[in-house]
This record gives sequence, structure tokens and C-alpha cells, in this order.
Amino acid sequence: MKCFIDTADVAEIREALSLGILDGVTTNPTLVAKTDRPFKDVILEICRLVPGPVSVEVVSTNAEGMVREGRELASWAPNIVVKVPLTPEGLKAIRVLSREGIRVNTTLIFQPLQALLAAKAGAAYVSPFVGRLDDVAGYGMRLVADILEIFRHYGYTTEVIVASVRHPMHVLEAARLGAHIVTMPFAVMMQVVKHPLTDVGLARFLEDWQKVPEKPF
Ligand code: G3P
Repeated sequence: MKCFIDTADVAEIREALSLGILDGVTTNPTLVAKTDRPFKDVILEICRLVPGPVSVEVVSTNAEGMVREGRELASWAPNIVVKVPLTPEGLKAIRVLSREGIRVNTTLIFQPLQALLAAKAGAAYVSPFVGRLDDVAGYGMRLVADILEIFRHYGYTTEVIVASVRHPMHVLEAARLGAHIVTMPFAVMMQVVKHPLTDVGLARFLEDWQKVPEKPF
């Protein structure tokens, strides 16, 4: 399973890169706004830092505008993936951009048929939002399972990015289901990396190490 980070914060991306597990980045307008930096500057810095795909979202709501913005974003760096919401206009834009060889990540997916339509239109990725479904008493991970099952039936190569991840159980379930990618906020990534019993165990080993005679280091 590939691990992406869901942030536009360059410090978080650098730290995640140093862990050696980072395969890509997903951003959205909310995450970029949090950085309080000029849009193009922050996106280009992320694209230089990370060799893998970097998803950047369009903000137009009509197909023509989405296609125009998507073409421009894709011209900024070879690893940019254009993020398009699954609306009727978004679907039209996905078809046009995909046919031009521009990779599209379809965002704001809340039911499996939206993912099927995105795959039919040629999207490289679909992003089911599991946390936001859980927030309204839906089953986020059931959505992921359904999409994976449908894609298997028809042999779609569109990759599933589990998004809107809130805690390590989302990551574990994504891996158990065989999702291609999970995109995690930095805080969740650190929760996955760290375990309290590992910290307690290490502290005990280090304490006992002090009792070892003639230590080489
Ligand atoms: O990047 C899209 C997605 O992961 C947003 O997550 O936490 O705002 O629902 P969240």
C-alpha cells in the first residue's frame, strides 16, 4: 500500500519524507489556505521535494474552467495530479483531461457509483472520503470495500486513495481491504509510526542497559 500525506505544510512533508515511507502528497484548498503562503509557491516547493504524485485541486465549478485550470496545473511540474470533484461538470472535465494524458484524482467521492463513473471517464485515482462519511453515521470503509469490489469486476486500473482519514484504524482497514493508497494527515501518520508499548519497552531496555558491565558504547 502506498502512503501519501494529506497536507500542504512543507515542514510536515519533509519530516514524512525523512521517515522513508512517503509515496506522494494530496492537497486541497483548505490545506493550502492553512499555510498562508502563495498558492503556486507552496505547490512548486512540494513538487520539488516529493518525487511521487502531488494532487492539486481545481476550483472552477464548470467543465471548461476545470479543464483550463487542470491544464495549467499539469504544466507546472511533471508529478502534478489534477484533483477534480465528482460533479456532472467534473465528470466532463475528467474525460477531457484524461484523454490529454493528464492524471486526475477524483475527489469528494461519497458513494461507489461516483467512483465507477470516474473510472469510466478515465480518472487515474478516486478519493473516497471515509472520515466525513463516518461523521454523518455512514460507513466510510464500506464505501472503500465496495469501490474495490466494483473495480475488480471490471478490471479498472484506477487506484483508490482512502482519504479523509482520521485515525490509525482507517489506515489498518485500508490495508486489510487492499486499497492502493491511503492519504494521512501528519498527526495520523505519527500515530501509525509510534506505539506507546514500544516507547515503554525501549525505556525499560535503556534502564537495564545501564546495569550492563563494560559497555562497548
Ligand atoms: O484531502 C481530502 C481529504 O482527505 C479531507 O479530509 O479531514 O477534511 O475530511 P477531511
